[in-house]
Amino acid sequence: MTDSFRSVMRRFPTGVTVVTTVVDGKLKGFTANAFSSVSADPPTILICVNRSARSHPLISQAGRFCVNILRLDQQPIAERFAKKDETDPFATVSYTFAKTGAPVLDGVLGFLDCELAEEHSAGTHTIFIGSVLACESHDGAPLGYFDAHYRDFGCLTV
Ligand SMILES: Cc1cc2nc3c(=O)[nH]c(=O)nc-3n(C[C@H](O)[C@H](O)[C@H](O)COP(=O)(O)O)c2cc1C
Repeated sequence: MTDSFRSVMRRFPTGVTVVTTVVDGKLKGFTANAFSSVSADPPTILICVNRSARSHPLISQAGRFCVNILRLDQQPIAERFAKKDETDPFATVSYTFAKTGAPVLDGVLGFLDCELAEEHSAGTHTIFIGSVLACESHDGAPLGYFDAHYRDFGCLTV
């Protein structure tokens, strides 16, 4: 069942984000595509984070996170933030800080800066629901993900 489940989910195209947070001045971020809008009024989103991710306890502790939607040319950033090693991915990217203090990566298509509103445990993951405190969008082409590969969906925001 797990294999057929994965096989179905691979057929669902998504964008790619880097979710960032900050705890005691220390920055953390990881690549995520389990991200969805929940409600526009009030603006609410969700992310699903594996409990084995190092980011998991930090998001809980920080009580805030920022979803950065990557542009097509930011695949190297997605790859860097998906790595499980000790190198600091923030050392190789430029960023500013959102209202919550979480990093906003330069050049992203958009970001949603959130206060953590609810946590729900489900399977191996926790669903973090965020109330959006600030957001911003820019035109450009999105980095896509489909069938376990990064993709160019051939579309632009206008
Ligand atoms: C395209 C892509 C999407 C991913 N989406 C998620 C996700 O939504 N939730 C999650 O927990 N991990 C996701 N991952 C895996 C994490 O990025 C990866 O486990 C990362 O090393 C976690 O970093 P951390 O342990 O430093 O927090 C994704 C990886 C890739 C390449």
